[in-house]
Amino acid sequence: MTATHKGPVAIVTGGRQGIGQAVTDRLTRDGVTVEVFDIGCEASVDVTDPEDVAAAVSGVVRRYGRIDILVNNAGIFPHVAFDELDFAAWRRVLTTNLDSVFLCSKAVYPLMKQRRYGRIINVSSSAFFVGDFDMTHYTASKGGIIGFTRSLAKGAGRHGITVNSVAPGFIETPGVLASPEELALFDEIVSEQSIPRRGRPEDIAACVSYLASPEASFITGQLINIDGGHRFV
Ligand code: NAI
Repeated sequence: MTATHKGPVAIVTGGRQGIGQAVTDRLTRDGVTVEVFDIGCEASVDVTDPEDVAAAVSGVVRRYGRIDILVNNAGIFPHVAFDELDFAAWRRVLTTNLDSVFLCSKAVYPLMKQRRYGRIINVSSSAFFVGDFDMTHYTASKGGIIGFTRSLAKGAGRHGITVNSVAPGFIETPGVLASPEELALFDEIVSEQSIPRRGRPEDIAACVSYLASPEASFITGQLINIDGGHRFV
């Protein structure tokens, strides 16, 4: 292992675009060294693949000797009616959105525990509160993240590690803009929000930045809904 890097180090999954990219940019501005795990990057890391995740985390540890922050953001949101949803499509969403959270958290946890410091932030979704149409697989995966967050937070706190989730509402990202089903809902949802404008990736990044900071040391197991006041939970 190299000498420990000066300054905090973060891993952001799915950091190539959208919310993950905004989180990466924001943490970088905060003075954090950020490593992106994304299948779309040149050094592709597939967060559903245990070997890929283990190798990528080992690389970060070799380079910096520390991991202070993990943002589990990578996710997919295909709309499929329950009648048409087969087990393979169900598994693909659960693996990408939920197994990845387990794999990445599991890989960084021993080092965070050893260093008695860590911030894990998991990106859930406001879909969990509303149970969107044709999204049983997605909503189950995002609800799973909330349960995972609460349970891990209970044991991690005594090791100086906090674990929280954020639930974005409708946020304008390349993933949403590429989905006709998502786009069809956008304006209606905006009109129902207390703050009637499209959500921006930076809105989520600002909250993640706080939860990832040393100052947020007494907040754990929480879920923060960031949806322009669409639903109050
Ligand atoms: P996006 O589709 O714009 O970007 C997702 C990124 O994740 C992409 O760069 C993609 O390459 C990466 N990715 C996907 N599968 C991967 C894998 N197996 N391994 C590594 N990287 C992978 O998505 P967006 O909108 O930025 O969403 C980010 C997260 O926020 C997702 O978990 C999504 O469910 C959640 N979310 C987004 C909302 C929105 O309105 N945009 C609302 C609620 C939650």
